Amino acid sequence: MGVVLVYALCFALFCICVNSQSVTLVPAIITFGDSVVDVGNNDYIPTIFKADYPPYGRDFKNKQPTGRFCNGKLATDITAETLGFTSFAPPYLSPQASGKNLLLGANFASAGAGYDDHTSLLSHVIPLSQQLKYYKEYQVNLAKVAGSKQAASIIKDALYLVAAGSSDFVQNYYINPFLNKAYTPDQYSSYLVGIFNSFIKDLHGLGARRIGVTSLPPLGCLPATRTLFGFHESGCVSRINTDAQQFNKKINSAATQLQKQLPGLKIVIFDVFQPLYDLIANPKKSGFTEATKGCCGTGTVETTSLLCNSKSFGTCSNATQYVFWDSVHPSEAANQVLADSLIIQGIALIS
Ligand SMILES: *[C@@H]1O[C@H](CO)[C@@H](O)[C@H](O)[C@H]1NC(C)=O
Repeated sequence: MGVVLVYALCFALFCICVNSQSVTLVPAIITFGDSVVDVGNNDYIPTIFKADYPPYGRDFKNKQPTGRFCNGKLATDITAETLGFTSFAPPYLSPQASGKNLLLGANFASAGAGYDDHTSLLSHVIPLSQQLKYYKEYQVNLAKVAGSKQAASIIKDALYLVAAGSSDFVQNYYINPFLNKAYTPDQYSSYLVGIFNSFIKDLHGLGARRIGVTSLPPLGCLPATRTLFGFHESGCVSRINTDAQQFNKKINSAATQLQKQLPGLKIVIFDVFQPLYDLIANPKKSGFTEATKGCCGTGTVETTSLLCNSKSFGTCSNATQYVFWDSVHPSEAANQVLADSLIIQGIALIS
């Protein structure tokens, strides 16, 4: 696996970018979406969706809770390291998102955000439309720091990552009778993919050319959805997994169309459903022992720091054999498995 990866990356070694810190395969990483990729923007806004206190981050650098919904690194942190970055692009709302740090990219993601702005408004987090507005502001600031010529090349060659959709289903559609009475899951998926389509068009219009988008994970296997929606089932909630797979089909065909329509665009939908499902279905094969509950607290309902916090009773002492860190988010160990899969699926973006 390691050797294959190195060969694959050498093959992809087309442009090497030398920025102030290191030699990297892309000049910058620019990220949009939800808690799968939020590195701390929610620390700066009034919402309950925060992960800026222990035990979040207990296995991160300096045991620091940063706002990442994980015990350690996110899958995209690991991907950044694989691409050669020695430090991570800061959350855009933090004071660190200024000066030379902007050259590494920026992270606009906000835990709880969805494709549907209503999802984000319910949780008082940063809607995707606002994340895009912040990105426009970033472009102006980047040009001030780098000069307009270098800024344009960073914008064109940067890797763009988008991870959203889970909150639309779990925190909005399934619990919102106005939505789930008015729309079938299939109709709601089409609605979300419509928003995805315009988002990618806007991003392309602003200069992005290499875009990686995560599929939905097996939402019906999250400890939280099992607890909340799985009353009659012992394993994953199959109707919810079916909805996720239908969404994934739609977003894949939308991406295929976008790739044809938009000049110079490379877009990849990263399949996170299958690798995570495999891990949950057969944890022992990859050295895990627990795939049904998260490490933090009881591991069944804790999604926000309100419930997963330093006083949570029963938090496991070592998360390395847990697929889930809390009731929704994968552990760093599981993120490593996901990151291995992401980098292989994403070769086309960096070559
Ligand atoms: C957790 O367990 C793994 C082995 O399963 C070990 O390598 C690691 O050091 C442990 N971490 C802590 C913080 O105890």
